[in-house]
Amino acid sequence: MSRSVVLFGTQWGDEGKGKVVDLLSEQADAVVRFQGGHNAGHTVVVGGRSTILHLLPSGILHPKVHCFLGSGVVLSPPALLEEIAYLEKGGLPVRDRLHVSSACPLVLPCHQALDQALESMRKSKKQVIGTTQRGIGPAYEDKVARRALRLCDLMETGGWEEQLRELLDYYNFLLEHWCKQDLMDVNAVLDASLAWVEPLRPLVSDVPARLATLRGAPNTKLLFEGAQGMLLDMDHGTYPYVTSSNTAAAVAATGAGVPPRSIDYVLGISKAYCTRVGAGPFPTELKDALGERLSDRGMEFGSTTGRARRCGWLDAASLRRVHQINGLDGLCLTKLDVLDGIDPLQLCIGYEVDGVRYRALPDGASLQARCRPIYEELPGWQKSTSGLVLASELPHQAVAYLRRVEELVEVPVTMISTGKDRRDTIILEDPYADRQAAFVPGEHIEQAVAMHGTFS
Ligand code: IMP
Repeated sequence: MSRSVVLFGTQWGDEGKGKVVDLLSEQADAVVRFQGGHNAGHTVVVGGRSTILHLLPSGILHPKVHCFLGSGVVLSPPALLEEIAYLEKGGLPVRDRLHVSSACPLVLPCHQALDQALESMRKSKKQVIGTTQRGIGPAYEDKVARRALRLCDLMETGGWEEQLRELLDYYNFLLEHWCKQDLMDVNAVLDASLAWVEPLRPLVSDVPARLATLRGAPNTKLLFEGAQGMLLDMDHGTYPYVTSSNTAAAVAATGAGVPPRSIDYVLGISKAYCTRVGAGPFPTELKDALGERLSDRGMEFGSTTGRARRCGWLDAASLRRVHQINGLDGLCLTKLDVLDGIDPLQLCIGYEVDGVRYRALPDGASLQARCRPIYEELPGWQKSTSGLVLASELPHQAVAYLRRVEELVEVPVTMISTGKDRRDTIILEDPYADRQAAFVPGEHIEQAVAMHGTFS
């Protein structure tokens, strides 16, 4: 029997997914990205050495793991080739175990030009989204509008020039007449694109077929790696301040090309507090010294754009909504150590707007912007949790905090990250192993502390 785990972000991205993917990849045969593009930024620290990945699955750092980019990913050929070169220069072979779906829509220079032009237009109207300006939104727009050029088109060089010229005509029209910007040099884009063909050709693959073979083999372990986070999801996030793909766990099936029933375990990743880059509602944001403290301690700067991340309290109400949509089997809380020494702590349990109370964020940007958090106060702890690997060593106030999260979200906290390195982790449940006992919210973490300290 094979076993498949989906790992995804439950906040606005940057939850520390890269580290957890890296950790679980130790036992995985294959790691698959299924949505987003090179807007993602996963920082993985191994033995003190930090690697930032944008497009490749974080599992690539394990030399035996096969890595896949499913057709739900929008693919920037130069970004992919650069990332491969960066890793191979550091002595890590990539090409022989990377498989890219031929159905991936391409992110082309015209998408980036339009993304940047639209952001600067929104800036003048004070309506910025704060995109990563990598062209992700326009590339997904093309896909939905059925005019995207895909990796398979690039490989069929016969028709490529005509298709590319037609697409660039469309973009030059938009850039000139709508955005009042300079035109793209069509011949330069064409020449650049032709140089991608041969380096990419050996990577092109029938991803659904390969994954089906892997799933059919005995004892294989697959890991599906989400990018961004649930509050940036097109349908369920803080629209329109979202990314242009669905980031929900269910998308692992469509974006990779596997049956929904083949997913065995859904692991949500959340920081022990909350951060957001870019614009948009953030009810628990702290714009004071405490927010700065979280930012400094957590080193909260975006790994893709270098922007400072906004920081705030953990929002258990939105985590509960994320569980409703995704059916979490386990929750991994990262950066618990950043809360060390902060007393008291606040947990958001709902919202209030104009005297009306909500258990989940109501739809609508202006309502969301006016949401005031309703907090529950909990005692903090003074002891350092940095680098802990045993739950039994956690201060009792930290256990009480985790217990309350479990109760409010109704999901077991199955992993706790206490530092940057892959070793700095308390693992209370292995998502690849069968669950030993029924989960009772709140009691789970207490049992873990009392019985074993760690199940790893
Ligand atoms: P886009 O995905 O570049 O279109 O950006 C849309 C929104 O998603 C912006 O607020 C970005 O800051 C945010 N975003 C996109 N990718 C990430 C990520 O990997 N981490 C955090 N925020 C992201």
